[in-house]
This record gives sequence, C-alpha cells and structure tokens, in this order.
Amino acid sequence: MENIKKTSELCKKFEVYFFIDAARFAENAFFIKQREKGFENKSISEIVLEMFSYADGCTMSAKKDAIVNIGGLIAFKEKELYEKSIPFGILFEGFPTYGGLAGRDLEAIAVGLKEGIQEDYLKYRIGQVKYLGEELNKIGIPIMKPIGGHAVFVDGKKFLAHIPQEQFPSHTLCTELYIEAGIRAVEIGTLLAGRDPKTGKDKMPEMDLMRLTIPRRVYLKEHMDYIIEAMKNIKERKDKIKGLKFEFESPILRHFQSKFKRV
Ligand SMILES: Cc1ncc(COP(=O)(O)O)c(C=O)c1O
Repeated sequence: MENIKKTSELCKKFEVYFFIDAARFAENAFFIKQREKGFENKSISEIVLEMFSYADGCTMSAKKDAIVNIGGLIAFKEKELYEKSIPFGILFEGFPTYGGLAGRDLEAIAVGLKEGIQEDYLKYRIGQVKYLGEELNKIGIPIMKPIGGHAVFVDGKKFLAHIPQEQFPSHTLCTELYIEAGIRAVEIGTLLAGRDPKTGKDKMPEMDLMRLTIPRRVYLKEHMDYIIEAMKNIKERKDKIKGLKFEFESPILRHFQSKFKRV
C-alpha cells in the first residue's frame, strides 16, 4: 500500500495519470494484509478500496483475479477521460455497455470479482502456490523469494549455470520441462527483454527466470507434486542440458513467435 501511495504522490507531482494494472489486485491485497503493518485486521475489500482510491483508474485482464475464461475492463475516475475513451472502445472492442464481451462473460466477471476477494479462496489459492514453491526449495531448486501469489519463479540462470545467458537458460528450462512432463511454463528473462534498439544486442537482464504460473481452481495438490517430480528428474540430468539459439527470431514480440534449436 505504501508503494501504491508513493507512486500516486509521484504521479501527482509530475501531473501524470496513475493507472493500476489490476490483473492481480486481489492477490496483492491479500499480501498487503499478510505483510504490511496496520492491515492485518482489515478485510480484503477494505484494502482493495484503499488501493484504488490512490489511482486515476485501472486496466484489468479479468482472466486473472476475476477468475473468468475471457474478458477485461478499463475503469476511470474522471468522467471526462472516460468519455474520451468511448470512441476508441467502440472502434476496437465494442459498445461501452458490453465492451465486445458476450453477456454470459460479463455476468461471470460480476460474480468472479466478488469471489476473487474472498479470503478463504485467496488463502487456498496463494497457499497452493506457496506449497509448490516450498517443495521446490526443499529439493534444491533455486526459486525467487518471497514466493508470489500467482506463480513460482525458478532462477533458470542459477539452475542451469553452465548455459550462457545468450543461450536463454530459463527458456531452455521451459522447453525441458515440457519435454519431461508436458508442463508449459514461460520465460521471464533474456528472451522477453529483447534487443537494445540502439546496439541491436540482446539485453542482459539480471533476472532470467522460468515462471510456473498456476491457473486458479484448476489443479490439485497432486498436480503440484507432478511438477515437483518433473523438476527433480530434470535436476538429475541438468548438466547435460544444452542451451538454445534462434532458428527464427521474430522482429516483433520475439518472446511469443520465435523458433529455436539446440546449440
Ligand atoms: C499483470 C498482468 N497484466 C496483464 C496481463 C495480460 O493479460 P491478457 O492476456 O488478458 O491480455 C498479464 C498476463 O499475464 C499480467 O500478468
């Protein structure tokens, strides 16, 4: 909350709008309750109200904390700004009353927004991710700490330390996990960072990670155990794993559209 407040103050000072990416607003509210002094006795909805009170609006991918299959929204505090946005909404999404979504999907969002802030649900949801992180930690897989709400981030650069960063260690790990057990993870690291537009060289971010993102209300504890087992198997053969190079590097959004081969 303190970060949100400070960001809001900074934006006001420089007369810049402050919009929250609200995809994971409920999980973040839960962490505020757990980790920030003075919030332990507040309800999630009270925390959420305070969070958004500092912002000029938000964008939200409802597929996350509204627990739905599809959809999203954009919200404004200023009526004038909202009205300015309407023509763009109509052109690119749909009429403001439905925003391109089917009625049933809007109804699902309305329910999901309420279910997504229930504390019991959040405890179960974040507890499942925590279980995965703690068990991976126990078997010696380097993960980012504290463990997040929606995902466990594995430090691929550390885990596959023999693979140079230019050969995408975390993306390599994602491909290995898919080959090993059919589990689909995503790289958040060198591949995602792309090239420096000035030099054309790959940027070398400090963090090169594999994100194990857990969909809500889909998996059981046994599925987490399956991921842990797969990571254990990869750990045993990790020194033999080779890095990756581009077979095709997409000039735009290379993270999503490229093809690779083993070095
Ligand atoms: C914080 C955050 N915002 C936005 C998005 C994008 O959502 P969408 O796929 O609905 O465009 C994501 C996707 O993972 C996300 O993590």
